[in-house]
Amino acid sequence: MTAAGKLAGAIAIVTGASEGIAETIARTLAREGASVALVSRSLPRVQRVAHDIEAGGGTAIALQADVTRSHDVRVMVDAVLARWDHVDILVNGVGGFSGHGSILETSEEDWDRVVALNMKSAFLCSQAVVKSMMGRRTGRIVNIGSQAASAPSPQSNSFLPYAAAKAGLIGFTKHLAKQLGPFGITVNAVSPSTTLTPRARKNRDAATIERMKSQNPMRTLVEAEDTAEAVLFIASKEARYITGINLNVNAGTVIT
Ligand SMILES: NC(=O)c1ccc[n+]([C@@H]2O[C@H](COP(=O)([O-])OP(=O)(O)OC[C@H]3O[C@@H](n4cnc5c(N)ncnc54)[C@H](OP(=O)(O)O)[C@@H]3O)[C@@H](O)[C@H]2O)c1
Repeated sequence: MTAAGKLAGAIAIVTGASEGIAETIARTLAREGASVALVSRSLPRVQRVAHDIEAGGGTAIALQADVTRSHDVRVMVDAVLARWDHVDILVNGVGGFSGHGSILETSEEDWDRVVALNMKSAFLCSQAVVKSMMGRRTGRIVNIGSQAASAPSPQSNSFLPYAAAKAGLIGFTKHLAKQLGPFGITVNAVSPSTTLTPRARKNRDAATIERMKSQNPMRTLVEAEDTAEAVLFIASKEARYITGINLNVNAGTVIT
């Protein structure tokens, strides 16, 4: 950890940071000197990561919130503002889905749940932090998308509500970038392809993983670190005029 990193002095919120890609993003931002608020529904799980960051010399707090609920989100952002006074970086990392199925097998409940998790959560969290950012005329919002937003891939069977929500998230990103540009706030998406996080690894055997790699132009799967480094760049001073983009981190799985 270094106080002189690329994000020294910055205040960041990372949602979904108790495991997987967003955990790696939170650790990466902290490594570069940001003070990071880690958010998930399970306080003990997100506390484990925050303690680990602090033990390594970084600065982190753990906050419990279901980011699909506006009340939870307001309480969470108020806690960050009470602690650190403002927010420089918001990473909307929460997302995902459970289940697969054709359109005939997809229920209304599946649709609402997955759209709320992947799209409404980003709206609620962005809305809760923008006043702080607008007042200071600076800020970074980074939405974690997915290759599923761009096109079906050979690697996975896209669950329709997930693909729709992630595609919606990209539209939200572009339009919010236009709204917030006059306030010096950038809004971008970073979209990984299949990443073997602990959860994603569970249902895939070695043969499946090898097949997925072989279907990819670069013959590999991306790792959480690849997405985290892309987020770091988007959040850095060097990217101050990059806004409204969807940065694919997919080793060519889907080329758009
Ligand atoms: N892994 C992939 O292959 C892949 C590929 C493309 C895109 N992505 C995207 O990358 C992001 C991270 O994916 P991942 O696979 O790394 O996730 P993951 O391992 O499933 O972790 C999800 C995280 O979100 C938290 N979470 C879930 N629901 C929440 C809620 N309602 N409120 C607050 N926190 C919540 C979970 O903690 P709690 O359960 O404690 O709340 C956990 O920390 C997602 O946006 C996903 O769509 C992933």
